Amino acid sequence: MAIDLTVNGTPQRVEADPDTPLLYVLRDDLGLNGAKFGCGLGQCGSCTVMVDGRAVLSCVTPILLMQGRAVTTVEGLGTAEAPGPMQRAFIEEQAAQCGYCIPGMMMRAQALLQERPDADDAAIRRALEFNLCRCGTHMRILRAIRRAADTMRHAETGAPSGRAG
Ligand code: FES
Ligand code: FES
Repeated sequence: MAIDLTVNGTPQRVEADPDTPLLYVLRDDLGLNGAKFGCGLGQCGSCTVMVDGRAVLSCVTPILLMQGRAVTTVEGLGTAEAPGPMQRAFIEEQAAQCGYCIPGMMMRAQALLQERPDADDAAIRRALEFNLCRCGTHMRILRAIRRAADTMRHAETGAPSGRAG
């Protein structure tokens, strides 16, 4: 069947079996390899993307449900040349070790901060508890998200960020 959706701001029409996971469509049909296949069972978070601003596990989300929806992947947060605030924060805190979990971490954090720009440390930890990192870089990931939150808040108010870089 044909599904019409928006991916990173671009309208897309995809032909797929209705049960096909969104993750497969993103990676195999649209060439967006940011979201990762980890467990394929909704248990690790490496496939996390945003759908209409909410964090969603794309490995267990059938494409059928994406009709008319707006999907954002890590590629939609910025580019290598012009990384967005979340991506920049992860780079500056050197949060990635192998990097496999990082796109999912960024997308869940992005969804949280868009909904709750003032999310405190406890809220960040709660939101991120679904996303696993087998390399154990959790503390750097948390620092990166705090940095991104700081940058995004100051961008909104126009005040200079308290952090260097
Ligand atoms: S690959 Fe989707 S939750 Fe693990
Ligand atoms: S950086 Fe390797 S799984 Fe998280």
